[in-house]
Amino acid sequence: MENSKTISVENISFSYGSQKILDGFSADFEKGSFTCILGESGSGKSTLLRIINGLLLPQDGSVKIENDLLTPENLIQKRLEMGYVLQGNSLFPHLTVFQNMAYCLKILKKSDVFCKEKIAELLPLVGLKEDLLPKFPDEISGGQKQRVGIIRAIAHDPKIVLMDEPFSALDSETRDKLQLLVKDIHQKLQTTFVMVTHSRPEAEILATHLLEL
Ligand SMILES: Nc1ncnc2c1ncn2[C@@H]1O[C@H](COP(=O)(O)OP(=O)(O)OP(=O)(O)O)[C@@H](O)[C@H]1O
Ligand SMILES: [Mg+2]
Repeated sequence: MENSKTISVENISFSYGSQKILDGFSADFEKGSFTCILGESGSGKSTLLRIINGLLLPQDGSVKIENDLLTPENLIQKRLEMGYVLQGNSLFPHLTVFQNMAYCLKILKKSDVFCKEKIAELLPLVGLKEDLLPKFPDEISGGQKQRVGIIRAIAHDPKIVLMDEPFSALDSETRDKLQLLVKDIHQKLQTTFVMVTHSRPEAEILATHLLEL
């Protein structure tokens, strides 16, 4: 059914110079699904997420978000309907934990009270305490940074959450905890998740759909 597709990637081709990364690639992501993208290093997983997020423009083909073609005109609005956990640590170093978490809320012009309440509500979801909020990213641990990144990606209630190897730099105990947490968040929010991972067991825990690149 056309309406149940949150993201449609249609016939996309993308090259860096003469290196073809994606060649006529298509995929649909249904509303509320959790797709894990697997594939060897360099196969184009991060490139695909960047194209969905509008950070890269394919040379051919198109991306539709809820049946709307992603265009330069609606890109900013559509990007605000997405949350994005980038590969590696991607917090803004000059912003506090709270400011990082509330980044999209602020762009959406939510009030300070709203931001505070929303972040307070989300903190327990990722097992973080309020005393972390005034700290800067270089004052917290790797696992804490990943959790902050996850809150930043979901705080504005996006329709889509894109995650690029969000747990790869973590020890196995923290990774297991965060996997369960993300699974829990997905079940609660029914958002459409697209996550890149190198780990097939991780994909099997989280995914409703698998995509091999
Ligand atoms: N900015 C760039 N300029 C030129 N080539 C690039 C650029 N970014 C990525 N590539 C190349 O494009 C290919 C796909 O990169 P991409 O980052 O999508 O891979 P990936 O599947 O996410 O890999 P990994 O699992 O290692 O993160 C790789 O061969 C990479 O070297
Ligand atoms: Mg990558």
